[in-house]
Order: sequence, then C-alpha cells, then structure tokens
Amino acid sequence: MLVASEAVPLVKTGGLADVITALGAVLIEHGVDATILMPGYPAALANAIGLRQIGPVIDDLPGGAGRLLLGRMPGANVPVLLLDTERFKSRSGDPYVNDDGLEYDDNALAFGDLAHAAVRICAGRTMLPAPHVVHANDWHAGLIPLLLKAQGIDTVGSALTIHNLAFQGNVDMAHADRLGVPADMLHADGVEFWGKLSFMKAGILCADRITAVSDTYAQEILTPRFGHGLDGLLNARRDALLAIPNGVDTGAWNPAHDPLTTRDFSADDLAGKAACKRELQRLCGLPVEPFAPLVALGSRITHQKMADVALDALPRLLADHSRLQVVVLGRGDHAYEARFRQLAADWPGRVAVQIGYDEKMAHALHAGADMLLHGTRFEPFGLTPIYAMLYGTIPVVSRVGGLCDTVSDAGEPDAPHELANGVLFDGEGADDMVRAMERALALYGQGSCWQRLQRNAMQADFSWYGPVRKYIRMYADIAPAHARALFENTLLPRSAAADEAATLYKRA
Ligand code: ADP
Ligand code: GLC
Repeated sequence: MLVASEAVPLVKTGGLADVITALGAVLIEHGVDATILMPGYPAALANAIGLRQIGPVIDDLPGGAGRLLLGRMPGANVPVLLLDTERFKSRSGDPYVNDDGLEYDDNALAFGDLAHAAVRICAGRTMLPAPHVVHANDWHAGLIPLLLKAQGIDTVGSALTIHNLAFQGNVDMAHADRLGVPADMLHADGVEFWGKLSFMKAGILCADRITAVSDTYAQEILTPRFGHGLDGLLNARRDALLAIPNGVDTGAWNPAHDPLTTRDFSADDLAGKAACKRELQRLCGLPVEPFAPLVALGSRITHQKMADVALDALPRLLADHSRLQVVVLGRGDHAYEARFRQLAADWPGRVAVQIGYDEKMAHALHAGADMLLHGTRFEPFGLTPIYAMLYGTIPVVSRVGGLCDTVSDAGEPDAPHELANGVLFDGEGADDMVRAMERALALYGQGSCWQRLQRNAMQADFSWYGPVRKYIRMYADIAPAHARALFENTLLPRSAAADEAATLYKRA
C-alpha cells in the first residue's frame, strides 16, 4: 500500500504526484499487488473511477469520522483508496495552504486521520486485506511507521520515502494525545522537533527503511546544509537509509507520441522540434524566430527553485543577448509571481510569463524550448529537467541533489565533453547563473555540438524499470517472512509462457 497526499491525475502540486501513480502502475506491471491510499480531496472524489464505499464509516479517527472509498486511477490500471473526511473535502484548492498561502490549521488532524486509516487497514480492521508492506511518502504519511510500532503491529513492513525534507509536518505538541503518539515519545530523542511534533521525524525514527529519491540527495541529507535539522537523526539511522532514484513516466513524456504537442519528433529526426518551437513562440506571443535561443523556466516559483536569482539574472542576459527569448510557466510565491509579470512587461516581445498550472503548456514548453533554466537551492530528484531532456531541451541546472546524477556537464564551449547532456552550475548568485547561461548560449551557437548534447539528453534511460526493481527488493527485505517470496518472485526472469499465462489471467 502506497500512502501519499498526491497522485496524478487526481491531485498534484509537484513531482510527488507523478511518482506515486507511475510507481503504482509499474509495480502492478511487475506483478506486485499495489494500491494507493490518499486523501479524498474534492478533485480526487470527482475524478477517481468507479468509487464504492468499503465497510462502515470509521467514526473514531483523530479528526472525526471518515470512510474509505475504493476505485481506480483514471487512465492507469491502479487501484486507489480515498479517505473521505470533512477536512479533506473542504480542500478544493491547494491541498496544504489556503488562498492566502497559509498552512491550514487542521493539517495535523487531517493527515493524522490519513495515518490512522492506513494503520487500521494494516491491522486488518477494515474489510480490506492488510498489506504486507506500507510505503509512506513524505511527511503527510510520516506518522504511519510510528503508529504501527506504538500499536504493536509487526505483520506489516514500513518504508518512508523522503521526496522533500524541507516540508516536515511540524505540528503543535498539544495534538500528540489525540494523534495517538505515546507520551514517552514526546522528547528530543522521540518526535519532538524544536518544540513541535514532527510527522517527518516520526517516520524517520520508526520506519523499517528510509529511502531518498536520488543517490546524491541520500548523501546530502546527512549534512547540515541539506538536512533541515534532521541530519543528526538521519545519520543515526544510516543503516536503514538507502537511495532509490525516481524514474519518469516515459509514456506520458514521449516526444515521439505526445498528444499534447503540435508535432512528434525523435532524436533521429528533430524537424518536429522546430515546429514545436514555432508553436511555443506563437502561443506566447513572441516573434517566431527559428534561430533565437529560447529559454524556458517551468517549475514552482519559490525560493527553493531560485526564483529570486533568476529574476536578477534574466534582465542581464536579455540585455546582453538581443535575440534571447524567455518563456516562464509556473506558480508559487505571490511576490515572485508579481516580479515575473513585471519582467514580461519590461521586455515585450522577449519575455512571456504564464502564471498558473497548465499540463498542456508544460508539454509545449519542454518540447518547444531550446534550453531549460532550472536553478534550485536543493533538488531531491528533479523531474522537470528530465522531461526537458527527453524533448531535446538542454537543462542549465544547479549542481545539487538528483541533478548531479542525471545531468552531465558540457564543460567549456571550446572543448565540450562528448557524453554531456546539459550545463551544471555551482552557487546561488545571479553571477553564477549568468555564467552558466553564457556557456549554454555559446554551445547553442555551435550547431553540431548542440545536436550532440540533444542526442545524449534524449537517449538516456530514465524509465522506471531499474528503480522499480530496487523498490521491490526493499519490500521483500521488510515484508513479514511468509510474504517475502511474493515480492522476490516478481523479480525473477519470466518465461514467455509465464507472461502469456499472466496476460490470460488478467483478461479473465
Ligand atoms: P518539485 O516536485 O520539487 O516541484 P519536480 O521537477 O520533481 O519538482 O516536479 C515538478 C512537477 O510539476 C513536474 O511534473 C512539472 O512538470 C510540474 N509542474 C510544475 N509547475 C508546473 C506548472 N506551472 N504547470 C504545469 N506543470 C507544472
Ligand atoms: C519533491 C522534490 C523533487 C522530486 C519530487 C519527486 O517534490 O522537490 O526534486 O523530483 O519530490 O520525488
């Protein structure tokens, strides 16, 4: 059972949502009986397929009553369980913050309910079969491993995946009793964190395994710079910590078959990319100039994603490169959003800014741009630069987290590296970003070298097939002894006859 707060296409604020659905689908493809448990936000209740209530209303969740609804993810053969409560039902916009950008004050109880519902399923106290492994994702599900321990449930293995350690779910200690957190855990060696009760800390403390979403991030979170105050505990639990890098959904992000772009293309035939560039320029109201370097920014517009640095660096680049065009797609911090709007007003015909969340536009952006500027102060994995790379859009990114593992730097433009697929930069200043962009622009000016970067970027394997095996291996390690073989068997090489039998079985 995968427990998370987001899953595409039901609810999404970031990469977590992409990962949960894709992981669920690829686990099922491998023969693991995976189910996603997530909150019944209005969008999820409205869009999940074939929902039906399972068992009676649960009336003793910490935050009130709730019921479990079972259905399927739209467009994916993945079962989804929704926890339907009044608290989740009232969140029709952002799942975590209100219209003023402030965290909902009942986050503790809302996500406490999610954890309690998960643990009830694990304990076999619903009409559903108990899972062998519960895989909690981020702080939203962080209380689950603790509650399993507190309630003495040892028939279910628990894993916590850290997608972003900056978000920790630190809530008022006064909730502890209601959330079922034992009094003897309310100290600094337990779940107390700077006077608060931390959901993320509870997960790190109690999960059988902790995973981070890239090799580099798994190392970084052991240091004060990236540990967000939890590096000490993570070091103490080092033996339980491993890296399992994400994959990407190469079905949804495939330039050769993408219903959301104007023209298909591939590494062998980039003509369609030129058409996508024209379309992006047209959509954004920029002059349609095939040889103008077109740089995209597409992400949450936040301090993490170095929005402040980009806002300082871009005017300098625009002034120095008279043909440079910039397209921005994103939403986030209102103050940065306003400054990006102003940037577009200051540079008509050169800068286009779309504030909002728009899946189709994200595809048009990655397909049509020449490069993606993605500065970031930390990046656990970083799906966006990979989407760009799959579409031959060269990433210019910070050398942090997962980006160290997926982007390989081109070096100096007069002697670029053969196997490179992007440009990496150190530092968090506008000078650092400008210098990296200068290198990218110089490389862009050298046709054959740029095409080599594009080919390298487009041909790398970012699929889920490697990562999913690592997850299954971990599930086998933490599952109760009698269930280990169930996971291990899915890793065995399969004969054609077994595949055919499985297909017939599924059809039946
Ligand atoms: P994070 O999860 O930290 O935001 P990722 O790059 O891993 O970073 O994932 C971000 C996901 O959100 C990607 O799927 C990206 O395409 C998507 N995304 C971010 N902002 C927007 C937006 N404004 N419109 C459409 N998609 C967006
Ligand atoms: C988080 C991280 C991002 C990662 C995503 C999926 O939101 O910020 O780097 O790709 O989770 O794991």
